[in-house]
Amino acid sequence: MTDDHTLLAEDLTVGYGDRTIIEGLSLRIPSGRITAIVGPNACGKSTLLRSMSRLLTPRAGHVLLDGAAVHRMPAKELARTLGLLPQSPTAPEGITVSDLVGRGRNPHHGIFSRWTTADDEAVAEALAATETLELADRAVDELSGGQRQRVWIAMALAQRTDLLLLDEPTTFLDVSHQIEVLDLLTDLNRNRGVTVVMVLHDLNLAARYADHLVAMREGSIVTAGPAEHVLTAETVEAVFGIRNEVITDPRSGKPLMLPLGRYHVDTA
Ligand SMILES: Nc1ncnc2c1ncn2[C@@H]1O[C@H](COP(=O)(O)OP(=O)(O)OP(=O)(O)O)[C@@H](O)[C@H]1O
Ligand SMILES: [Mg+2]
Repeated sequence: MTDDHTLLAEDLTVGYGDRTIIEGLSLRIPSGRITAIVGPNACGKSTLLRSMSRLLTPRAGHVLLDGAAVHRMPAKELARTLGLLPQSPTAPEGITVSDLVGRGRNPHHGIFSRWTTADDEAVAEALAATETLELADRAVDELSGGQRQRVWIAMALAQRTDLLLLDEPTTFLDVSHQIEVLDLLTDLNRNRGVTVVMVLHDLNLAARYADHLVAMREGSIVTAGPAEHVLTAETVEAVFGIRNEVITDPRSGKPLMLPLGRYHVDTA
């Protein structure tokens, strides 16, 4: 099992150039749980995830992992505890799947340490879990969008971190692979205690899979808590500006949001 970790943002302000995107945001990630961050395009979800994984330095406030500011931690040290799957990762040209997934092991190696059977095992397990074993010798450039997405997830899994931050891990995936990835992250969470933080656009899957839901709008947190508390018609309307109805999913008991557009619904 993994260790308990405290990851929190305190009064965080982040931006690009002279544009402020997130201002005075505070957030505590529940350890050993699954957190989903939802919100409209450009509201700052990726910016928040990047700041929590030290890719962006805050203008004010901090991100603390177990009490230490992540921006002052050496990259490799942080990467042994916290893994990030960015929204649009880029692979070195011509790299094979197995080599890319193997790079997930880099944080565990010093300059002189050699590749071990533990590394082999971590890579093989990550390839198997993401059903990418048969792609191992293919070039990453040649894969379909969904295959490539699963390979990136494999790389993040091979890193074997206690905390895993994933920016839209289900993009490009067909419905069966979306469910598989979310089930796999749930397995990691339940069996190994991995803390998962993911950005998702599918509110219903977010409500079903996350213990803790965070709704963002314009760089701020509108509300956070269990799905029943966050996925309400009022919050969806306030955050996304759409008319909608929330019912109870008969199979999971979680809230299920039905968007109401201008067509195909009974508007009475
Ligand atoms: N590298 C960058 N340089 C300048 N501005 C940026 C940069 N990255 C993001 N932004 C801006 O910051 C704002 C928030 O972007 P961010 O990527 O965090 O949004 P998001 O909530 O992840 O959106 P999406 O759902 O589309 O992925 C946007 O207005 C975006 O244009
Ligand atoms: Mg984003």
